[in-house]
Amino acid sequence: MATAIATPNIAFVKYWGNRDEKLILPAGGSISMTLDRQFTTTTTVYFPGSLGADEIKLNGKGVEAGEARRIVEHLDAMRKAAGSKLRARVESVNSFPTSAGLASSASGFAALTLACAKALGLHRNMSELSALARLGSGSACRSLFGGFVEWEMGKRKDGEDSVARQIAPPSHWPELRDVVAIVSGEKKHISSREAMRRTVETSRLFKERMGTHGRRLDAVREALLEKDAGALFEEIMTESGSMHAVMRDSRPPIIYMNEVSARIVDAVKEFNAAGEGRARCGYTFDAGPNAHVITTQRYENEVREMLLDVKGVKQVMVSGVGEGPEMSEEHLFKI
Ligand code: PMV
Repeated sequence: MATAIATPNIAFVKYWGNRDEKLILPAGGSISMTLDRQFTTTTTVYFPGSLGADEIKLNGKGVEAGEARRIVEHLDAMRKAAGSKLRARVESVNSFPTSAGLASSASGFAALTLACAKALGLHRNMSELSALARLGSGSACRSLFGGFVEWEMGKRKDGEDSVARQIAPPSHWPELRDVVAIVSGEKKHISSREAMRRTVETSRLFKERMGTHGRRLDAVREALLEKDAGALFEEIMTESGSMHAVMRDSRPPIIYMNEVSARIVDAVKEFNAAGEGRARCGYTFDAGPNAHVITTQRYENEVREMLLDVKGVKQVMVSGVGEGPEMSEEHLFKI
C-alpha cells in the first residue's frame, strides 16, 4: 500500500499532438511550471492479492466507464513494468474541482504512477517514472518534478527517451505566480487526446506550428533561466495563441476558449498597455476556457483584481511554484 500526493502543472510551451499515439510520444517538447499544494491529487493504491478486478474510487465515488478504462490501462502498464498480475484498490481525491479544467489528469496520473510504483516495489528513477506517467496522460510526466520542467520529445521509437526533467528548481524563481481564473466548471466537450488526434490529422497549420516549435522552446527556456519576465509573458501568450489556432484550424474545429476567455485576453492586453512598455503578466489557456495568468509576486494582487472584474469569471486562485510530488504515510483508507 502506498500514497502519493501530486500537483498539476501549467504548460508554457504546450504539448499538442503525438507522433505515436499508443506510446504517447509527442510531436514536440513542452515546458511547464509545477503548481503548489493548493491544488493536489492524493492517491492511495493497495494490491491486496485477493481482488478479481481493480476497484477505483475518485473523490469518494465510482468512476464512469471511460475513465475507469484509462485508469485500468495505466495500472496494466505499471503491472507490466513490475511483472505483477495483482489487482488494485485505488482511491484518489482532488483538493480542487475535478471538472474545473485544472489539469486533474496531470496530477492524477502522476500520483497514480508514484503510488503504484511504490506499492509494487518497482524501483525506477524519476526520469523512468516520468516515462511511465506519460503513458497515462502526456502532461502527467511533467508533474513528477517541482519547479520548471521540460518534457523532451525524444527520438527513440520505444519512447524511453521521451522523459521529463527539471530545468530549474522552485528556488530559481519563487516570485512567479499562476493566477488562475475559473471561468467554467463544465467538463470538456472533447477529450484532449481525441482533439489532438483530430488536429494532427486535419490541420494544415499544425505543420507550420511544429516548424517553429523548437525555437519557441529555446525562447521560453532562456526566458525562464534568465528570469526575463517580460519575454516569458510575451512568449507564452504567442504560444497559447498558436495552440488554440491549430485547434480551430482542425476539421471540424475544436474550440475550448469562450467569450469569457476572450474578455480575459483583452483585459490582460489593457493591463499590460498601462505598464512601462513591458508585459507585466501573460495568459495561457489549456484545453478549456479557464485562464492561467502568469505574473510575478509584485503584480499578483493587481492581476487578481483585474481578473475578478472580468464579467463571467467565477473564482480566482493563485498558485506559486510547486515543490513537486511527495509520498505520504497517511493513506486514504485502512486495510
Ligand atoms: O496530458 P493531456 O493528454 O491531458 O494533454 C494536455 C494538453 C494541454 O494541457 C492542452 C497542454 C499541455 O502541455 O499541458
